[in-house]
Amino acid sequence: MTEQASDTRTFQTIGVVGLGTMGAGIAEVFARNGFSVVGVELNDEGLARGRQHLENSTARAVSRGKLSEEEQAELLGRISFSTHLEDLREADFVVEAVVESLETKKAIFAELEAVVAPEAVLATNTSSLSVTEISTANAHPGRVVGVHFFNPAPVQDLVEIVRTVVTEPRVLDDVTALVRQVGKHPVVCGDKAGFIANTLLFGYLNHAVSMFEGKYASREDIDAAMRFGCGYPMGPLQLLDLIGLDTAYEILETMYRQGRDRLHAPSPILKQMVTAGMLGRKTGRGFYTYD
Ligand code: CAA
Repeated sequence: MTEQASDTRTFQTIGVVGLGTMGAGIAEVFARNGFSVVGVELNDEGLARGRQHLENSTARAVSRGKLSEEEQAELLGRISFSTHLEDLREADFVVEAVVESLETKKAIFAELEAVVAPEAVLATNTSSLSVTEISTANAHPGRVVGVHFFNPAPVQDLVEIVRTVVTEPRVLDDVTALVRQVGKHPVVCGDKAGFIANTLLFGYLNHAVSMFEGKYASREDIDAAMRFGCGYPMGPLQLLDLIGLDTAYEILETMYRQGRDRLHAPSPILKQMVTAGMLGRKTGRGFYTYD
């Protein structure tokens, strides 16, 4: 854990709502940095999946010699699991990382407000929805902020902190310090679909899909061009498989609706692949196939 700025608040218990790829990764980040984490999922199946994700990810770190087995056990021991939002009553910082549905997120935020202490900070990891709209579910929207991690959360250093017009400056300072404390690099931006990174990234990804769709080049060559020509760690189609084609489609669609910029009009094949259940790594098939 990096040392914390002295004039900012010390958070103790972190709540994570939703233990999918992002939520489980976020839980790992906080637990790895010594925080107690309470992970909440809808049902036992969701919890089992989240727990498995955490076990696999930390086991990989053990096998690479980055974590000892004892540290892995300590890390996992800091995370408790529940299917009830009421178990977040002790949490002073809650990150919501459920599906990208405004209704679902608003319902969770409204419920959270009744559970947590008045001074707890409520964050959403949304990548495309309006943080301001999510915060309207709360009587105290000043404590609501966007905290956008990148996939895989334990690896990617960036966290975008999204302020709405009513987010309290104090909350922004405290969350920025917390993000630094877990070793991530915070950047602050306003509440516009795509924030900084996705606005810049998704036009490029969408263009790669159009190139593939138009049979201009093979998937391997499109990816190789950006890896070996531009030094990107992954090619665009590989990255889309990692992000999840459903998530990518939603992000593009929201950015397109807001900006009407053709760059973000989702390539038709993306929608077709989503409809066919080819969501990328998580379903074993996307632009590539996975074991
Ligand atoms: N969970 C946890 N750790 C992981 C991981 C995962 N899913 N995948 C890889 N890692 C770790 C590995 O354990 C390894 O750790 P150490 O260096 O400590 O040993 C490290 O990451 C590198 O992994 P690998 O050697 O297996 O593979 P790699 O070098 O090819 O890196 C990668 C894999 C980190 C995913 C890299 O290819 C990369 O950075 N790709 C780009 C990812 C990216 O752009 N993410 C942003 C997507 S956009 C987004 O997330 C925003 C949104 O709203 C959708």
